[in-house]
Amino acid sequence: MYLLAFETSCDDTSIAIFRDRELVAMKTRSQIREHNETKWVVPEVAARLHANNIFGVLEEVLNEAKVILKEIDIIACTEFPGLMPSLLVGMSVAKTLAKTLEKPYIAIDHIEAHMFANFIWRDSDDILFPSVCLTVSWGHNELYLWKSMFEREKIGETLDDSAGEAFDKVAKMMGLGYPGGPIIGKLASEYTGEFRSIFPKVLLDRETHDFSFSGLKSAVKREVDKRIEKNGSLSKDDIREIAFEFEQTVVNILSYKLFHAAKTYNISSVVLAGWVSANDRLRETIEQQAKERNYRFTAPISKVYSQDNAAMVGILAYYRLRWDI
Ligand code: KG4
Ligand code: ZN
Repeated sequence: MYLLAFETSCDDTSIAIFRDRELVAMKTRSQIREHNETKWVVPEVAARLHANNIFGVLEEVLNEAKVILKEIDIIACTEFPGLMPSLLVGMSVAKTLAKTLEKPYIAIDHIEAHMFANFIWRDSDDILFPSVCLTVSWGHNELYLWKSMFEREKIGETLDDSAGEAFDKVAKMMGLGYPGGPIIGKLASEYTGEFRSIFPKVLLDRETHDFSFSGLKSAVKREVDKRIEKNGSLSKDDIREIAFEFEQTVVNILSYKLFHAAKTYNISSVVLAGWVSANDRLRETIEQQAKERNYRFTAPISKVYSQDNAAMVGILAYYRLRWDI
């Protein structure tokens, strides 16, 4: 069985082909260069780029897989959540193909797909259920009680910004590029000083599994403005220090909340998903804490599967078919 999977929920045009459970090929065209000009994803710009790129990406992935469209047995596509103009491009192409090829179509939830990215190149029993899964991206920042493969309950979410959004906004306020996450991560790793905890850790003192990052973002803005007012501009060292303090604060909040939820629900398996899970400091911190506390820790096998990608859409569609859901 050949499965064709589409992902266009934000700014990556990604298409993958699976032969049963095996990922045969994936091609992704990023829009980072274009969005770097605005330091932000403008939905209408993203949608137009998807529309211009999608058939080129489709041709590339079919060539790499050495498959022709007629051989495709089933088509899957991300439908929600995401940027509506972007989602509609993928959905329109995927549904038109399904209709003309007379093949079944599967609608995929983007957050569930991020969670299922943990099954790419892994066995279905590699994740211990029940787990607590932290999904952190630009559009979402949530904690799930992942009870079994297709049973999950949201136990926490952000009350305002997501961590990914905070990374992007902090990068923007320091005049850095888009997406902010990897840029902040790199600058933070160059800082050699001690962690002084100069920013607030909002909601850490309360018995809630919810998050809030807008206060942290405002605190970073005040610090940036204060240093600019004092010295006229931000030095490279200022930028490295603020990036480090900000990133470490986010990591402390996310890891604390994840393990706190696991303890509350008496669960010994923790899972990471979403593009922020590509953050080295976050992965290493959670991995280390899991080891110390005897928790099973799982994150996508490669950063490629942390970011938006069609392989996660395909693997979720595959398991849905196998479980007949
Ligand atoms: O999964 P994604 O493309 O968006 C949604 O599905 O909503 O996630 C994008 C977010 C951006 O905010 C980006 O700054 C963040 O993920 N990100 C990171 C890293 N790589 C990407 N944040 C922190 N560290 C990273 N290495
Ligand atoms: Zn995503």
